Amino acid sequence: MEAIRHIVESQQFDREFLAELFQKSDELAILQRVKALDGTTMASLFYEPSTRTRFSFEAAMYRLGGNVITTENAREFSSFAKGESIEDTIQVLGGYADLIVMRHSEIGAAKRAAEVARVPILNAGDGAGQHPTQALLDLYTLQQRLGRLDGLKVAMVGDLRYGRTVRSLAYLLAKYNNVELIFVAPEVCQMHHDIVSYLKGQGVALREETDLDRTLGQVDCVYMTRIQKERFLDLNEYARAADAYRLTPQNVSRMAAGSIIMHPLPRVGEIDPEVDKDPRAAYFDQAKNGLWIRMALILYSLKHWG
Ligand code: CP
Repeated sequence: MEAIRHIVESQQFDREFLAELFQKSDELAILQRVKALDGTTMASLFYEPSTRTRFSFEAAMYRLGGNVITTENAREFSSFAKGESIEDTIQVLGGYADLIVMRHSEIGAAKRAAEVARVPILNAGDGAGQHPTQALLDLYTLQQRLGRLDGLKVAMVGDLRYGRTVRSLAYLLAKYNNVELIFVAPEVCQMHHDIVSYLKGQGVALREETDLDRTLGQVDCVYMTRIQKERFLDLNEYARAADAYRLTPQNVSRMAAGSIIMHPLPRVGEIDPEVDKDPRAAYFDQAKNGLWIRMALILYSLKHWG
């Protein structure tokens, strides 16, 4: 029997899968709706807040003709509040749903869920661990906007220490040739050494930089992130990191004409809303791309392709 198709971490994908996923996503973006999953149920289990990931997954399921069972806030309104373990919740929900999309605050929670699940687990973010479906839509956006993935120069800016989106995206970019990553982060938000040593092992050119303005003109993509207050145990550390880097129309003017600005969103001040008018601002298209990628991923997990 074929294994259950969980989506847990970026390392699990290869370039062949990614090319096929993007092809499927292109097709779904044209079709907009496909009634492929009539009578199929997705459980949406979010222990942390979300706008894009939860709503796009739920919209994706409805656009595929399926239905959704969900809780507004699993931390308060599921039996987690009574002390139930992830493992027990997942085994129970597997009896009601055909796949489970889960966001949790603990690193490794999706892996734990996948170990006991009888239906696919789609990791919608596990603490400061990974956010693979975000990274897939990020990569799709890079391909769409820049027309290539080999040879890209990407600056990752902001919270690289706790940012699960940059971790997952770095793993994916490492699969392509001649990629260069520039990490621009406050002292307390530097990229963790596990990713740095993985990237070096994969031959990715890496460098750390503190001057954002100097970096802007050197890259194909500036990938901004929010400094995540909720991940800091020491609020003094947070205060030192917050507001370190901000894109404005003035410094964005240093960027090359064909380059792009991405952000997984939400933003809280690191991109001036005036920048939204700039043609290089790709972040709202990026969020929209989450719909097509997640439709394709749901179909993949339920073995409708691949
Ligand atoms: N990018 C992202 O994960 O956004 P949400 O937290 O709103 O889902």
